[in-house]
Amino acid sequence: MTVAFTGASGMPFGLRLLECLLRARVRVDLVYSAAAQMVARQECDLTLPSQPREATRMLGDRYHAQDGELTVHSRDDWMAPMASGSNPGDAMAICPCTMGTLGAVANGMADNLIERAADVMLKERRPLVLVPRETPLSAIHLENMLKLARAGAVILPPAPGFYTHPQSVADLVDFVVARILDHLGVPNTLQPRWGDERDR
Ligand SMILES: Cc1cc2nc3c(=O)[nH]c(=O)nc-3n(C[C@H](O)[C@H](O)[C@H](O)COP(=O)(O)O)c2cc1C
Repeated sequence: MTVAFTGASGMPFGLRLLECLLRARVRVDLVYSAAAQMVARQECDLTLPSQPREATRMLGDRYHAQDGELTVHSRDDWMAPMASGSNPGDAMAICPCTMGTLGAVANGMADNLIERAADVMLKERRPLVLVPRETPLSAIHLENMLKLARAGAVILPPAPGFYTHPQSVADLVDFVVARILDHLGVPNTLQPRWGDERDR
């Protein structure tokens, strides 16, 4: 599974997604942008190391990953498995996703490992989930999202529902992360499912 963090607001979604995937013992290849490092510091007081090895160790310890379950890659690591259609992994999520990265993926730029891995997912017809965050959205943003949806990507804005009666910010985050996990094909019980309480 490939996970990418980019520099949109909403880093708690990305970090919680990583935590849930590792807790589910899913093997994760992670890559993040320089702007994501700034946002992680700003929103979560978290320094994401620039060196992939240091990042693998730090995030692996933080989320109790076992050896080989988490690998962090640099943005220009073209030797990373997900850079090629011959080894793309099961699915990919970009969470949070900036309008910049969304536009680059929509237009096939493939100029860094995040954009390239997303491009590979689309061409190989594997699940690609983008969690775009911006408000309001311009016509350019909307056209790029439509283009991606037509190319097979899932556009999953971090827009929690309130019908589960969330009690905390963590509940709101989990609402969104549960939907991302569903689309990545990872079983989870983060949130009650609509209709499950009926007739019981
Ligand atoms: C604290 C912070 C919050 C930001 N929030 C957003 C956002 O919500 N959406 C967005 O598209 N860009 C946002 N940006 C701007 C992007 O980080 C910027 O456009 C950057 O070039 C994106 O690069 P990337 O796509 O490689 O991460 C934010 C930047 C900072 C520092």
